[in-house]
Amino acid sequence: MYISNTWYIAAEPQELGERPLARTFLGKPVVLFKTQSGRIAALDDRCPHRFAPLSLGRVIGEHLRCGYHGAEFDCAGACVAVPGQSIVPPKAKITSYPLVQKHGYIWIWLGDPREAADHSTIPDFLYRSDHPGWDGGYGHFESIRANFNLINDNLFDITHAEYVHPESFGGEEMRIYRNAKPGTEYVDGQMTWVSTERGIVFRMRSLNMQSGGPFYRWMVATSLGRDSYPDPIDLDMEVSWAAPSFTSFLLNSRPAGKPREAGAEVCNMHAITPETESSSHYFYRSVKNYGDSSLAAVFVAGVKAIFDQDKPLLEAQQGRVGAVDLFSQQPVSFGGDMLQQRARKINRTLLERENQG
Ligand code: FES
Ligand SMILES: [Fe+2]
Repeated sequence: MYISNTWYIAAEPQELGERPLARTFLGKPVVLFKTQSGRIAALDDRCPHRFAPLSLGRVIGEHLRCGYHGAEFDCAGACVAVPGQSIVPPKAKITSYPLVQKHGYIWIWLGDPREAADHSTIPDFLYRSDHPGWDGGYGHFESIRANFNLINDNLFDITHAEYVHPESFGGEEMRIYRNAKPGTEYVDGQMTWVSTERGIVFRMRSLNMQSGGPFYRWMVATSLGRDSYPDPIDLDMEVSWAAPSFTSFLLNSRPAGKPREAGAEVCNMHAITPETESSSHYFYRSVKNYGDSSLAAVFVAGVKAIFDQDKPLLEAQQGRVGAVDLFSQQPVSFGGDMLQQRARKINRTLLERENQG
C-alpha cells in the first residue's frame, strides 16, 4: 500500500536528456521526458495502441513518439498524431502526472490530480540543497531492493551506525538516541524530540567527545585545514523527518568548548520514493558550510562506502521480511525504535485518511 497523495522525488534534472527515462513509481511504470523547448512531462509508460513502453520511443520536438508504430503524444498525454491517417482516435489518451521542480529535483504527484496544486508537502528543510552559502551538492542515486518503510526505519535508527558504520558515523555517542525525551532543546548526553502531524524532529548533543564516530572529527579537522584533530570535540545532530519518506541530518562538529556558530556543518538529505512494494529509489545529497569543492571526491567516495554498507543489509532484511509488512509479523522492539514506530504511525494515518477520502 502506498501513500499516493503526496509529492515524491522522481529524478534529478540532469537525468532527463535527449532520451526518455523509464522509472517505476508506486508500482506504476512511468516515462519522464524533456521536450525540445525544455518542458518536462511524465506519462504512463504504455502506449494505448499496442501497449509498447513509450520509454522506448523518442522525443520529437514537443512530443514523445512511440517507438513501435510512431503515434505521437503531447505533455498532457493526448495523442496528437498517428502516421498515415488524418484522424486520431479520441480514446488515444494516456495518463499524465503533475511534475514540479524544487530543491534541485523533479518531483512527481501520482495521487488524485485535483490535490496536486498544493506543494506544501514538499519539505522546507531540504532548502539547504540549493542554498548558495553551502558548498557541495554531492548527489547520489541508488536503487535498493527493499520496501521504503525499511529504509525509513533505517534512517531513524541511528543506533545501527555504531555497528554498520563504525569508521564514519557510528560511535558510542549514538547510544544516547535511546535516552529520548520530548523537547526541542539540545541537551548534552540526551536526545530530545518533537512531532507534528506530518513530521518529527530530534536533536542530540554529545560534548567533549574523545572518541566517537570518526566522521565528526574529520569534519573538524578538514574545516581547520588539518589532516587530523586529536583533541575532544562537541557534536550536535538535528534530524528532521517529513512524511512519507524525507530525512535530513544536520551535523555540527566543533572543537570542544567552541560556540555552535563556529562549528563545521554538513547537511545530508535522504529522500525515498517507493518503486514497488519491495524496491525503492533512494536520492541522497550532501552539502557543507565550509571548505571548497576540493573535498568533493572524498565525500563522494565516503557516501558510496556508506551505501555499500546499508544496501546489502537492507536487501537481505527484505528477503527475510518477505512480501508482507514487517509489523504484521510482530517483530521485537527496543527502546531505540520509538521514533521509527512513531513515523510509521504517521504514515499509516495518512494512508488511512487517503483510503477513506
Ligand atoms: S504500440 Fe505505440 S503506436 Fe503502436
Ligand atoms: Fe546506515
